[in-house]
Amino acid sequence: MREQWGSQTGFVLATIGAAVGLGNIWRFAYIAGENGGAVFLLIYLLFVLLIGLPLMIAELALGRRGGGDAVAAFEIDRTGSPWRLAGWVSVVGAALILSYYAVIAGWALKYFLGAATGDLWQAAEGGFGGYFDRFIAGSVEPVLWQGVMLALAAAVVAGGVKKGIERINLWLMPVLAVIVIGLAGYALTLPGSAKGVHFLFAPDWSVLARPEMYLNALGQAFFSLGIGMAVFSTYGSYVGRNSRLPRSAVAVALGDTAFALVAGLAIFPAVFALGGDPAAGPRLAFITFPQVLLAMPGGTWIGIVFFLLLTAAALTSMISLLEVPVSVACDRLGAMRSRAALTVTLIIFLIGIPSALSYGLLADWQVFGRPLLDTIDHGVSNFLLPFGGLAIAAYVGWRLTPVVALEAADFSGSLSGRLWLWLLRVAVPLTISVILMRSVGVL
Ligand code: TRP
Repeated sequence: MREQWGSQTGFVLATIGAAVGLGNIWRFAYIAGENGGAVFLLIYLLFVLLIGLPLMIAELALGRRGGGDAVAAFEIDRTGSPWRLAGWVSVVGAALILSYYAVIAGWALKYFLGAATGDLWQAAEGGFGGYFDRFIAGSVEPVLWQGVMLALAAAVVAGGVKKGIERINLWLMPVLAVIVIGLAGYALTLPGSAKGVHFLFAPDWSVLARPEMYLNALGQAFFSLGIGMAVFSTYGSYVGRNSRLPRSAVAVALGDTAFALVAGLAIFPAVFALGGDPAAGPRLAFITFPQVLLAMPGGTWIGIVFFLLLTAAALTSMISLLEVPVSVACDRLGAMRSRAALTVTLIIFLIGIPSALSYGLLADWQVFGRPLLDTIDHGVSNFLLPFGGLAIAAYVGWRLTPVVALEAADFSGSLSGRLWLWLLRVAVPLTISVILMRSVGVL
């Protein structure tokens, strides 16, 4: 019998742990900053509601109905169905995401330890720009911290679904919620912070004319929720029949969005209060924000807490990504969980080394005009994840019969069920296709 979550709360918190991560703090802040703030936020929320939520329900339902790993989730129509290819792609995709995600998580860990020991504040006297650039240009440290983060994730996954994944999320996620709310509360007391709030909530409608804004909002919705790459189908396979999936998915989507908003309220008011640039890109959390912290009363303490939050949130997401290939190895190769965790982690570590070196040894090797890590992040979020979403929508909406789909997702023919199915069949594929085609210039 497949292992199951110990409780409904445990399942929801573990799933929120998967969703809440670097995407909500590091990525959300910089993407919102680059795409104009409030209007981006609005479009983002729309995508979460109309695309993300229906897909999340569908992915969880596939996982539970499949009763196995991410590949089995696409074999519901029949074993050996060609749709299972979509499952394999998502397993490889999850491993690929984890490979570079671990690198950024490693940066967060390095900053947390540096902030806690005080080294960070001293070493950065010449400015965080130089500090950060020197750090990520190294050949040893980025790889070292990437490895440490992966080892932590592996240790948790080796512990099992209930005793490892569920247990750490049960106590960590509430702590992280308290931390982020506290940080935002403090940032909002800073003089000048209103400008940051204004940036997040006062619309500048002109960005509506930018096609890449929609692509970025879509990519961010996928990345932040964590849909399209088999994490939810894997976590869904550990859910019991008596759980109500739509309700759990709503809780996860709400939790994830609230987290991003509150994290934005911790970062932007501080950035604006002290005159930083909100559109600083991926460096926002590692250069602009710490610079702001140094100038802020009690900033070094805030820094410790902020980077602890970033590291821990990244860890729970890494755990979810690692569980995807690990469950495949356990199911298909009959591997022992601890062995599978160790081997898979080692492979992912090796795949991620070029990403870790992409600002140092490999800095001259630009892929599509950007450093390797940036290109992978951009390509994964804006293309691979939406394609994963298309596959789920097509499989659940068109391949499965409506009766099977509705029943698998606990919808028993209600109005909300029909709305869900219609979104999956028409609205979701149409929106994703239009946005993808516009972004590559076909439309
Ligand atoms: N959602 C996580 C974040 O916001 C990252 C993540 C976890 C993810 N699982 C995923 C992204 C699956 C894409 C697919 O940081």
